[in-house]
Amino acid sequence: MIVIKEHSDYHLTSRCRECQTDHLLIEAHRRSAMLPPILPLLDFDISPENGFLPTELPLELLPDPYYHKWESIVANLQALLLSKRLRGVIERLPTLSTTRLEHVSEWRRAYMLLGFMTHAYIWGGDKPQEVTFKKPKTSIRSICTDLAQRVPQSIAIPFLQVCARLELPPVATYAGVVLWNFKPIFSDEPIDSLENLSTLTTFTGSLDESWFYLVSVAIEARGGPIIPLMLDAIAAARINDSRTVTESLHTFAERLDELGSLLQRMYENCDPHVFYHRIRPFLAGSKNMADAGLPNGVIYEDGSGQEKYTQYGGGSNAQSSLIQFFDIVLGVEHRPTGQKRDESSESEQEGTAPPPRHNFIQDMRSYMPGPHRRFLEHVSSVANIREYVGSHTSNRALSIAYDACLAMLRALRDKHIQMVSRYIIIKSRESRSNTRSISPRAAPQPINIASASKQQGKDVRPGSKKLRGTGGTALIPFLKQARDETGEPAIDAWAKRLLSNGPADGGANFAALGKMGEHADGEMEIVGLAGTWAMDDSEGGLCHW
Ligand code: HEM
Repeated sequence: MIVIKEHSDYHLTSRCRECQTDHLLIEAHRRSAMLPPILPLLDFDISPENGFLPTELPLELLPDPYYHKWESIVANLQALLLSKRLRGVIERLPTLSTTRLEHVSEWRRAYMLLGFMTHAYIWGGDKPQEVTFKKPKTSIRSICTDLAQRVPQSIAIPFLQVCARLELPPVATYAGVVLWNFKPIFSDEPIDSLENLSTLTTFTGSLDESWFYLVSVAIEARGGPIIPLMLDAIAAARINDSRTVTESLHTFAERLDELGSLLQRMYENCDPHVFYHRIRPFLAGSKNMADAGLPNGVIYEDGSGQEKYTQYGGGSNAQSSLIQFFDIVLGVEHRPTGQKRDESSESEQEGTAPPPRHNFIQDMRSYMPGPHRRFLEHVSSVANIREYVGSHTSNRALSIAYDACLAMLRALRDKHIQMVSRYIIIKSRESRSNTRSISPRAAPQPINIASASKQQGKDVRPGSKKLRGTGGTALIPFLKQARDETGEPAIDAWAKRLLSNGPADGGANFAALGKMGEHADGEMEIVGLAGTWAMDDSEGGLCHW
C-alpha cells in the first residue's frame, strides 16, 4: 500500500510506528528536491578532510624569486625586530607587483607574509609607528602638522591588492596566522595531531607563539571532518532518515569532546606571561587602540593621495569559521552582545525597535576569507537539524544526541572562558598592579596593547569597575553570554535545565554542568597565586573591541 502522508516518526527502512504502514521514500525525496541544494564543499574552498585548512599544504616559500625580498624579511623577522631595523628595511623595500602571484596558495602565502610584516611594522617598536605628514593646503587645518600611524606603500599597496583578491581585511587575521601558517613535521603523518605540527612564521620565534597557533591548527584539522558529516546529516533530515541524523550527532558530540581536550593542551607550552606580554601585542589591530598608541587607527598608504584612517580588529580565534559552523549547524543563535533572551520580542510587543547592538560574533565573519564567509551564509540557509530534532521529540535517541552536542560545545566554551581568564584577565590585573608600583626611574616600557591602561580611556563611569570596549560589554560577560546561548536550544527538559544558567523552574534540585569556579550568581572566580579573583572586571581581548 502506498501512503503519501507525513507522520512524526517514520523511517526510510522501517514501518511507521504510528499507523503501521510503509511510507514511501518518494514523498520525502520529493520534498527534499524542492529545498535549496546543499552545495559542494569545494565551491567554498573547504576541504572534506581538513575543513577550513587548505587541502594542499600552505606554501613554505613563494616560488617566484621576484618575491625573495618579502621572504627574506619574514625569515629574519625576529632579528630585524630585535635590532630595530625592521621599519627602515620595510620603508626602503621596493613596492612589488602582485601580478606574478598565480595559484591561490601563492596569494595566501603573500597575505600571510604581508600580514606579519604589517603588524611587525606597526607594533614592533617602542611606540606604534608614527610619521609626520602635512595635511593638504586647502584644509582648514592645513597649518597643523598631524601625527599619523601609517603603513608605507611598499607593503600597503600589495597588501591591499592581495586582500581584495582573498576578500580579507589588511590585518594578520586568523587565516593568516593559523590557517595558512603551518606545516606537518612529517608529511606522511596526520595534521590533526599537535605532535606533527610546526608553524611557518611567528613574530617572536618563541615556542609559546608557535603552540598558540598550532593548538588552533590541530582543532581545525580534527574538527574538519565534522563539516561533511553534518552536511550529510542535513541531507538525511530532509529525507527523514533519523538514524543517520542521530549517528552523525553522536560522532559530532564525540569529536567536540576531543576538541575540548585539544584546547586544554594550550597550557602545556604557551605561557600566559609570554602570551600576554610578547605575543598578544603583535596580534593587536587598530580598532579602539587609543590607549595603546593608535588614537585614530592606521593609514594604509595606497598611493592615491586620498588615504584615510582605518580601524580593524586584530587576529583572534573568534575569526574561526569552524566554531561558527558548529553554532549554525546546531541552530545556536548568538544575540547582539548584552541582549537578553526575550528582550527583542518584548520591545516588538511594545512597538519599539530595540537599540542597535554590536554583534561581535557576526562581525567576525568579515575577518574570514570570502569563500568561508559565504559557506557560513549558505549553511545558515539550509540548516535544519534543530528544527528536525524539535519536531521529533518522541525520538529519545535523537534528542539525546542533539543535546549532547550542545553540552559538548558549551563545555568547550567553558574551558575557553577559563583560558581567557588565565591568559588575559589575570595577566592584565598583574600588569596593572605592577604599573602602579613601577619605579619612576625604571626603563620605559613599550606602548602596546599589553601596556595600555583602559582606566585612562573611555570607561570612566562612576562606580563602574568594568573596563569596557566600545561595544559596551566587558569581555567575560560577552564570552559567558555566548556560552549560555549555546545551551538554549536543548530539547529535553532535563538537559535544558542542565545547560541553562540556573534553575528554570523555581529551584528544583538538579546537577548543574560544571562552570569552572563560577558561583550561582554567575560571578566568576579563579584561584591565582595570591588569592581568589573576581572575573567580572575585564579588559578587551585580542581584538580589543
Ligand atoms: C591562549 C588562548 C586563547 C586566548 C587568550 C583567547 C582569547 C579570546 C578572546 C579575548 C576572545 C574575545 C574576542 C576577542 O577579543 O578577540 C576570544 C573569543 C573566541 N575564541 Fe579565544 N582565545 C584563546 C584560544 C582559543 C582557541 C584555541 C580557540 C579555538 C577553539 C578559541 C576560540 C574562540 C572563539 C570561537 C571566540 C568567539 C567567542 C565564542 O564564540 O565563544 N580561542 N578568545
